[in-house]
Amino acid sequence: MRALQIRAYGDAPRLADVTGPEPGPGEVLIDVAAAALNPLDLKIAAGAMHGMFPVRFPYTLGTDVAGTVRRAGPGAPGWAPGDRVLARLDPSAGGAVATAAVVPAEQLVAAPRSVPPGPAAGAVTAAATAWQALTEVAGVRAGQRVLIHAAAGGVGSFAVQLARRLDAYVIATASGAGVAIAEELGAHEVIDHTAAPFEDRVSHVDVVLDTVGGAVEERSLATLVPGGLLVATPVPPDVARAAARGLRAEFVFHASDAARLETVVKLLDDGLRVLVDREIGLPEAAGGLAYLAEGHTKGKVVVRG
Ligand SMILES: NC(=O)c1ccc[n+]([C@@H]2O[C@H](COP(=O)([O-])OP(=O)(O)OC[C@H]3O[C@@H](n4cnc5c(N)ncnc54)[C@H](OP(=O)(O)O)[C@@H]3O)[C@@H](O)[C@H]2O)c1
Repeated sequence: MRALQIRAYGDAPRLADVTGPEPGPGEVLIDVAAAALNPLDLKIAAGAMHGMFPVRFPYTLGTDVAGTVRRAGPGAPGWAPGDRVLARLDPSAGGAVATAAVVPAEQLVAAPRSVPPGPAAGAVTAAATAWQALTEVAGVRAGQRVLIHAAAGGVGSFAVQLARRLDAYVIATASGAGVAIAEELGAHEVIDHTAAPFEDRVSHVDVVLDTVGGAVEERSLATLVPGGLLVATPVPPDVARAAARGLRAEFVFHASDAARLETVVKLLDDGLRVLVDREIGLPEAAGGLAYLAEGHTKGKVVVRG
């Protein structure tokens, strides 16, 4: 089989011919139809996540996978050859950007009926993180004002739609073609973050979803109502700085969770849209990661298995 691998932190990812994996007890071998790339893959490859997600080399990149069951290992009942599935692999194990992958059976869910494998893979981490941030961490309620940064990005493009489904008033930041995309996804207001400081244009926000970090985190605090909540995905936010201003700040830690992924599958079958920036073949996967690293993707970069 072929797999996009690194042999050390900082290595350029390369497509390698490797021995196909065998499913062990409780595992299922799937033929990969599509894998989605995430900023996490770049952070892991750079060695930046070693404390949280240590890996063994050679490491096959990718956590988000859609495919078809080829064979179940011993003690992995419930899945039959030909079943269409979706999974979020443990980041320390990786393995999605390949032609085949071994998945612990408890991480597999049935694929959505109405969405093809490429877009379905694109929803695995990004949509589940947006769901976790808005419902489990922030508990967004109808009528709340929610500011969503990077609204045309992977997490942001799902967050805009999900916040609308929660009947929130959605204010989004984006730029270029992303402005029209955010409007199409349902944002009530879109601020071009390259045209003016967003904090000059928006106030009285109950919840900020910050998927950008850095200066955007501190600037976002100025938009919040007293007691308002900043939810951050890139790194844990500065909780003390928020508290000093009478605000709250929380980090989203997205762990693989089949029950949450099943919720995402239901949402996909209920019309949640997946914005696919580009769908590429395995030989282009390293280039796809380099494109993602530029930081301006509109939706997801998806790699066919
Ligand atoms: N904690 C967790 O469990 C978890 C889970 C998922 C993701 N994450 C992290 O969350 C972050 C976002 O992930 P993602 O997949 O959504 O990233 P992404 O898809 O790569 O985000 C790209 C988008 O970011 C936008 N952007 C960049 N700078 C911006 C700015 N200053 N203001 C507004 N938009 C800006 C870009 O729009 P422009 O072209 O307009 O700049 C682009 O559309 C990453 O750091 C990722 O690692 C964490």
